[in-house]
Amino acid sequence: MGGRRSEEGGTIGCTAPNRYLAVMKFKKILAWGGGVIVIAGIGIQFIPVDRTNPPITATIEAPPEVMTILRRACFDCHSNETVWPWYSYVAPVSWLVASDVDEGREELNFSQWDAYSPDRCAHKIKECGEEVAEGEMPLWFYLPTHPEAQLTQTDVKTIVDWSKN
Ligand code: HEC
Repeated sequence: MGGRRSEEGGTIGCTAPNRYLAVMKFKKILAWGGGVIVIAGIGIQFIPVDRTNPPITATIEAPPEVMTILRRACFDCHSNETVWPWYSYVAPVSWLVASDVDEGREELNFSQWDAYSPDRCAHKIKECGEEVAEGEMPLWFYLPTHPEAQLTQTDVKTIVDWSKN
């Protein structure tokens, strides 16, 4: 009996250090977790990202006022003249940028205009008018970092009028 009591006493006596140990353990877990995140963050920077600008075979021809808008608001994703911003060099954002450019070029590439038949070119131009009129292009998340790509109503009208010719 006596021994038991002293055991219990010992347990009670240990409560404060136990809590201290628990806090220390938690801090240790946080430190490890933070370390793992930092190392993973550095590690993913070594995964290769394709940021090439392939050769331009034929640039789309359009009236100068149209070309100005296309170059300003569309060429980063729909041409081989992409200006790769600094954050396109930092994973994981780089993956998103590269995949948008990749997909954008896949759908429509103003730098390889000779790769499409005349009919296809006409169809692509018609789609440009539709996308811009609906406010679908340029992609909304591109605008905060490229405010110059924001289209005014005049810009939209210029593109839409051109797409109907
Ligand atoms: C931030 C990159 C980006 C910008 C800037 C951008 N696009 Fe796109 N565009 C894409 C991507 C990605 C797709 C394919 C996926 C989709 O349709 O959302 C696409 C698809 C398209 C399509 C094909 C749509 C279809 O359904 O076939 C057209 C047409 C188009 N864009 C026109 C434009 C025009 C015109 C501009 C400039 C006013 C522009 N885009 C700016 C990324 C972009």
